[in-house]
Amino acid sequence: MPDSTITPTRLVGVEDLGDGQVTVVETQHGTLAVGLSGGEPFAVSNRCRHLFASLGQGRVAEDGCLECPWHAARYDVRTGAMTRGPQGAFKPLAGLVKSTTGARALKTFPVVLRDGAIWLEG
Ligand code: FES
Repeated sequence: MPDSTITPTRLVGVEDLGDGQVTVVETQHGTLAVGLSGGEPFAVSNRCRHLFASLGQGRVAEDGCLECPWHAARYDVRTGAMTRGPQGAFKPLAGLVKSTTGARALKTFPVVLRDGAIWLEG
């Protein structure tokens, strides 16, 4: 039997996501990166594990991962795990960063897609 005391929280309308398919939302759980990946909603903690860029200002890449706007590290939005280390000047260190700072996955939060919006459950 569902707990009627738990009210879902509306996070963002799908039409407000823009081309990157992700945005920043302030919630009672802190600042989250909220978006759509492959048509499925997600919400993860907003700070990149590398140098703390705002992931909600990044984009959902063609592989469905959330890409950091600063050095393009990528995260699996289902698990929060870093799937690719930082690129550009940091690329030689990408594996090291992924295995150290990236080993601490982003926090993930339960969300649903309903009435054209993403809702935080619980
Ligand atoms: S701050 Fe995110 S990859 Fe560097």
